[in-house]
Amino acid sequence: MKIAFITDLHLTETDEMPQGVDVRGNFLKALDFVRAMKPSCLVLGGDLCYDVGNRAVYAWVREQLRDLPCAWFAIAGNHDDSMMMAEELHLTHHLHGSELYYASPLEGYPALFLDSSKAQFSPEQWAWISEELRSIHHNVLIFCHHPVMLVNAIFMDTKYPFRQTEKWQETTGELPCQMQVVSGHYHTDTIAQRGNTTVMVTPSTYIQIDPANAGISLIKTPPAVREINVTPNGLTSRVHYVL
Ligand SMILES: [Fe+2]
Repeated sequence: MKIAFITDLHLTETDEMPQGVDVRGNFLKALDFVRAMKPSCLVLGGDLCYDVGNRAVYAWVREQLRDLPCAWFAIAGNHDDSMMMAEELHLTHHLHGSELYYASPLEGYPALFLDSSKAQFSPEQWAWISEELRSIHHNVLIFCHHPVMLVNAIFMDTKYPFRQTEKWQETTGELPCQMQVVSGHYHTDTIAQRGNTTVMVTPSTYIQIDPANAGISLIKTPPAVREINVTPNGLTSRVHYVL
């Protein structure tokens, strides 16, 4: 099973170009690459909107996904409004209060889609995550906008990390499952592992952030697409930059 993951689209409503980047064009390029990849599904990793949730942006995204020849899923980032996003992407059946989270096995492989748009989970979402994970005794894919642990990317780890990294460790550290978390938010390509959690951080389709710089240092790259392959021998993944 092949999964495509694109994240941190940061789309604007008009054709303005933040940092001189054609954010809509980049998303469409990434989407064309995904079509050619022929994955089983596409996951949008959050921060669909440039700054704050915007109905017109979500409606435009839905329109672009209309003829995608595979299933697609979406999670919210800190620059999204989960409720507005769920309404425009027709995902309201997955809303729990103001959070958008759900489990949806991918070809029988367990997968959770979380809502870290507030940089933390509500007590209700934590209870749901614990309950879901307790019943899994092998691998599980978890899609979450924020990396659930620090990943040694100085600016983002310091300024905008997930606020409950220790709670993740406490809640999941003793569970029998192996968690493969696919994230965005940091605008960089890196992998971190601690205990039974591995986090694959995925670069943006917009712009990247230098992980070695304590200040914000932006790096322009072509839009990124993460490819995840689940095979009987395990899981492999790589990032493509779409020229
Ligand atoms: Fe983010």
